[in-house]
Amino acid sequence: MQRLIEVHPDHFHLKAPGASYVIELVRGTYLSHAHWGAPLESWGGANAHRGQDRAFAPNPDITDRTLSLDTLKQEYPNPGGSDFRSPAWLARTEPSSAAHSGEFVYRGHRLVTGKPLLAGLPSATSRSRDDCETLELDLEDGLTGLKAILSYTVFRTAPVICRSVRFQNSGKASLRLERALSMSMDFDLPEARLLQLSGSWARERTVRETVLGEGSISLESRRGASSHQHNPFVAILSAESTEDHGEVRGFHLVYSGNFLAQAETDQFGTTRLQLGINPWAFSWELAPGESFQTPEVILSYSAEGLGGYSRQIHRFIRDHLCRGPWVNRERPILINNWEATYFDFNEEKLSSIVQKAAPLGVELFVLDDGWFGQRRDDRRALGDWVVNRTKLPGGLEGIAKTTRQAGMKFGLWFEPEMVSVDSDLYRAHPDWCIHEEGRTRSEGRSQLVLNLGRPEVRAHVIQSLKLILDSGSIDYVKWDSNRHLTECDGSTAHRHMLGLYQVLESITSAYPEILFESCSGGGGRFDAGMLYYMPQVWTSDNTDAVSRLSIQWGTSIAYPPATMGAHVSAVPNHQVGRMTSVKMRADVAMTGAFGYELDPVVFSPEEAREVQDLNAWYKANRRTLQFGDFHRLKSPASHDAAAWMSVAPDKTRAVAFWFQIMARANAPQRVLRLKGLDPRKTYRVSGACAGEWSGSELMGAGIRLPDLHGDYTSIRLELQAN
Ligand code: DGJ
Repeated sequence: MQRLIEVHPDHFHLKAPGASYVIELVRGTYLSHAHWGAPLESWGGANAHRGQDRAFAPNPDITDRTLSLDTLKQEYPNPGGSDFRSPAWLARTEPSSAAHSGEFVYRGHRLVTGKPLLAGLPSATSRSRDDCETLELDLEDGLTGLKAILSYTVFRTAPVICRSVRFQNSGKASLRLERALSMSMDFDLPEARLLQLSGSWARERTVRETVLGEGSISLESRRGASSHQHNPFVAILSAESTEDHGEVRGFHLVYSGNFLAQAETDQFGTTRLQLGINPWAFSWELAPGESFQTPEVILSYSAEGLGGYSRQIHRFIRDHLCRGPWVNRERPILINNWEATYFDFNEEKLSSIVQKAAPLGVELFVLDDGWFGQRRDDRRALGDWVVNRTKLPGGLEGIAKTTRQAGMKFGLWFEPEMVSVDSDLYRAHPDWCIHEEGRTRSEGRSQLVLNLGRPEVRAHVIQSLKLILDSGSIDYVKWDSNRHLTECDGSTAHRHMLGLYQVLESITSAYPEILFESCSGGGGRFDAGMLYYMPQVWTSDNTDAVSRLSIQWGTSIAYPPATMGAHVSAVPNHQVGRMTSVKMRADVAMTGAFGYELDPVVFSPEEAREVQDLNAWYKANRRTLQFGDFHRLKSPASHDAAAWMSVAPDKTRAVAFWFQIMARANAPQRVLRLKGLDPRKTYRVSGACAGEWSGSELMGAGIRLPDLHGDYTSIRLELQAN
């Protein structure tokens, strides 16, 4: 079998299919980043670093004024020496006033078959012994004895490299790690753009692109969660790249807490891209003999534009990051009672939702917030995970039984990381929350965060969840988290995140058949870390179809459709007040883990019939929609229309959607050019534009769409190869 990693005296060449990664060893001492991009047969150094004596560029070797770390493209830059750009790490000796410079130099390397697990952290995994190889590079700081092991895993089936770093204190004194980034990379890509997915609650993952020029762009979270505001994902797009052409390099940090993603472009146009745990208020003690593992970054390269990048990373996330039996299983159509009832429900009301939804083809009923303790509003009872018998006299078993008898599965909402101030749990353990003695305990939604860095708190959370899940009546769990961390330094936040990962590992591995959906006030923790434990995420609390076009469009750049929870909700929409048709709402939500978030009891007979037909159609096309190759056709950024499609991997089936946002009088004829079909196959198109055409024609010339009248209307096309 061909080796994926070549070791040469002066360079390492990592050969993923469709991409090469080259690290040079300069003077046997410094690791220099040489290439991450197009696949290379070999590296001869045509574009290797050539030293140059430059003004104001200090030299570590006083006999050679052409070598400066300030101009060398580096792989994991040191702090405080002759490089004035951002370092990848910083460690202080105790007492903390001591030196802050560091000199990692290269000491050696190892090749490892497969991919070692990252202690306590989520990470991509190998699925067979030889589907990947790992290179470990040893660096050492001679003065302190601190070591860093840079790890690179190359996958045989995808143009993907996973990078992370393990620090080891091999010295005699304690150290404090104050910056420990997962990766750093210096590259020259003139006029490249940084793509970020940023926003806010209910406006998550809006696409923004910025041309890189001198200076820094920092995207970060200090909230203790990856956040609605910035996603721990960035992509670098070469100047000429588009949706369908050009080079795209994407970087996912596999972490759900405070992070930093920074692009710093220097005086010579070299960009240093760094990702990792946010160094803000971070100080991690490393006693002699101890080690610290950074989260991982998944790097993926595509020469086929942003679309090509998305499709390959979707596959990789499904094949190597998400785990468990649900990863490739079709996700059930669910109905969630949140927007139907909020906290105001009883067994009778829930039963009526179940009885109405089941005959419409809905497969799973999810009981959301409000089923436990004294939870009559969002001001109390988190932590008291005991069913409220006033609302549910038959207990959870009662409503679970009703649901099953109606032919549906039963799911339940939890918010395990939190405690309400007004709760029995808080009254019993007021010290279990994250806080700083003597300081205000800032509340968010009247709740505090349990400190999962503490073993007894973790044990309690695991036990309370197991008490309910052991009943065997739960098929699905929605795992929510509705506030961020305050009065908390970066190290406590990281310890808490490691604790949360332990809880998640324990629960999700104990109940592999339960489908877990992660949520944080919608998409506040839509990240690769969470996807390791839970294969789908509630994409946003904003269920408005038009808003969802942008949210799902942006999310699809980095995450697969099957991971995106997407529901049809009532109108006027509860977040923005917009009126849209059921068809438009369903067409938008179908590209994802589809469901409803409304009261079906109020459906008219016509609406009920329409929903029944929608569900039947969805089921017939669900595999293609959830696991097909996703192609973005028209961006909603123009605010007039949007389009996307999904194509089955064997290209025999496809589904395309056109969404008209704002209608225009006497508008030009719309032509939709499809993508991803087999040019030689003939497709039978049904839906709004019926007919038979070749894939080449549908892609090359496009299909004329009928005129649409009115705002917020949609067209759905179903394609079947003959
Ligand atoms: C926030 C979630 O995003 C909503 O869907 C809902 O579950 C509420 N929390 C319940 O409190």
